[in-house]
Amino acid sequence: MRSRLGLGILLAGIVGICGSVGGLHSAPALAAAPKADKVPSFKADVMPILTNSCVNCHSDKKKKGGVDLSSYDFVMKSVKANDPDKSRLVKSVLGQGAKLMPPKKGLPEGQVAILKAWIAAGAKND
Ligand code: HEC
Repeated sequence: MRSRLGLGILLAGIVGICGSVGGLHSAPALAAAPKADKVPSFKADVMPILTNSCVNCHSDKKKKGGVDLSSYDFVMKSVKANDPDKSRLVKSVLGQGAKLMPPKKGLPEGQVAILKAWIAAGAKND
């Protein structure tokens, strides 16, 4: 009796963990591709993606690879305005940089599209 109950709790725990990791990974709310007629905004569209997926490892506290992505000015060090394909920010999430970012996972296509559209439109601080 006791051990079966224990197993039940253990299984529930594992399912719970997998559920939350899956949720983080797919991030459905952010995955929606931007509408063609609307340029993504830095504050409303870009920063939430970075906060969600990058800032854990790229802020003043933890600056992996010397990269800080916690504010517009710092993000711009990895961005070439109007040229997404030459921006380290985009290259890194496509696995064309030093390493795929976030490590081993990358970003969903919809989020990459938002970053690219924002940079292509001039990477404004809006
Ligand atoms: C789990 C920690 C972690 C997360 C999350 C993470 N990074 Fe990194 N990042 C690293 C590490 C470690 C390095 C250094 C890699 C190296 O140079 O070998 C790095 C390096 C970089 C670099 C510099 C190297 C290059 O390719 O130009 C960029 C740009 C970068 N990350 C962007 C991002 C972006 C954008 C995100 C979010 C979409 C992100 N990272 C999420 C750990 C992380």
